[in-house]
Amino acid sequence: MCITTNTAWKNVQQHALEMSEFHVRDAFVEDSERFKKYSIHLDGLLFDYSKQRITKETMELLFELAKESDLENWRDRLFNGERINHTEDRSVLHTALRDMSDDPIYVDGKDIKPGIDSVLKKMEAFIDKVHNGDWLGFTGKPIDTIVNIGIGGSDLGPKMLYEALKPYHIPKIKVCFVSNLDGADLANQITQIDPETTLFTIASKTFTTLETMQNANTARNWFLRHTENESDIAKHFVAISTNAESVAEFGIDTNNMFEFWDWVGGRYSLWSAIGLPLALGIGMHHFNALREGAFDIDTHFKTSPFERNIPVIMALIGIWNRNFLGAETLAILPYDHLLKDLPDFLQQLGMESNGKSVDRDGEEIDYATGAVVWGATGNNGQHAFFQLLHQSKTLVPLDFIGSVNSGYSLEGHQQKLFSNMAAQAKALMCGKTEEEVTKEAKSQHDRDIVPYRVFDGNVPSNMFLFDHLTPHSLGMLIALYEHKVFVQGIIWNLNSFDQWGVELGKKLANEILDDLISDENTNKHDSSTEGLMNYFKASFMD
Ligand code: F6P
Repeated sequence: MCITTNTAWKNVQQHALEMSEFHVRDAFVEDSERFKKYSIHLDGLLFDYSKQRITKETMELLFELAKESDLENWRDRLFNGERINHTEDRSVLHTALRDMSDDPIYVDGKDIKPGIDSVLKKMEAFIDKVHNGDWLGFTGKPIDTIVNIGIGGSDLGPKMLYEALKPYHIPKIKVCFVSNLDGADLANQITQIDPETTLFTIASKTFTTLETMQNANTARNWFLRHTENESDIAKHFVAISTNAESVAEFGIDTNNMFEFWDWVGGRYSLWSAIGLPLALGIGMHHFNALREGAFDIDTHFKTSPFERNIPVIMALIGIWNRNFLGAETLAILPYDHLLKDLPDFLQQLGMESNGKSVDRDGEEIDYATGAVVWGATGNNGQHAFFQLLHQSKTLVPLDFIGSVNSGYSLEGHQQKLFSNMAAQAKALMCGKTEEEVTKEAKSQHDRDIVPYRVFDGNVPSNMFLFDHLTPHSLGMLIALYEHKVFVQGIIWNLNSFDQWGVELGKKLANEILDDLISDENTNKHDSSTEGLMNYFKASFMD
């Protein structure tokens, strides 16, 4: 049955109509306890959702919606390893990768925990060797540079976290990330590295992804220009994949392969061996602290009642904003420079998971799913796109993310940064009325421009305020968003774990490439594609 015909959905819809005049500013005036009611403190994180356009009734109706979608049962099915990714016939068990309990987790009747432990041990032993200078390059020098080649989930998580955890970097190791097919990406890295001391981690779940394979081949050819011996590849290339056969075909010794499994989705894979470049950069103990942070959120998600369950609340608010208030996007605004890549990571997580138009039963859906996720560091954004957030007619809900303490103790910065984040959230929520602006006017000119200085306010936002940005707190943050996306997928009745929408473009790129390198004019594309190809062919200087 289509979810929009369910009683709980209809009740929320009716309530949204009744809320059309609601202004959050007034709600704060009427209820001095509002912050207390709509914020949760958990393990060094303060989650404040009191600036959302919600009332007690809104939340009650949304919790009903979650219950009607059978969320508790689906949550159990997720953690128990049922094949909930039915279009790929796979379990979804990224949570098993950070499960710190002694409980077994079964896939096809086999406990997967020993396999996970064994890869973690292999990672640890390898990292120790590299850090201790015992893993030597082909001229006998220790490794000091890691270049990770991967894209999407095999890049975004480790890259974002390596940046975010700068204060935790192992000083003698530098980690770089190459993802783009554009040769400029790899070329820029290659000019800065020494083949004698560089190790490439080729990260690809499938080991067939065009971008990664092209970059990996180019890196291997570049490396072989510095040594005559093909066997030296073993000292400088390791693979992270589920596909041992293709790894061997590429020429990487499968002893140098770090395995993961088909029940780990690409965008959920940073907890697996895909995290190797990150763990090389920050140390295995910090990688484990990240996993522990995520495990703590898994426990919170599994055991907390919906009313105190942060990912459930995040998901429900997202649905309220998307489906009932009509907000098409969600802006991620880290007020922490080290989190500058977080919007990119959350973009793949949210949009690749829930950007769907067919429900779990294969029926076309008639409701919106998957907000457009975008964003940038908040303080820079203030001087770029915040004008639209404050005064346009487009409703853009926001997630502010920051920390009280910084890894960098430059005097005066942190308090000013927090003040800006709090001020923006307040300004967007309160706005400024015509009356307030008029009262402040001192001259005729001031009175003339009153309408330009009015802010509607009522822009909803969440705030995630951490005491410190640590591996543990970042593990928590990512797991919160992962579960948020899962809950939304359940309520929207989607499979959040496939991504068929990326296939068509991949297939067509191959067809276009074949025709582009052929001398014949195939004329099998539309006239625009054909025209562009002809222009490219005529202008391309080989
Ligand atoms: O963009 C599609 C996708 O399959 C993502 O889901 C995935 O993270 C990325 O490509 C990379 O895939 P792989 O790890 O197999 O190279």
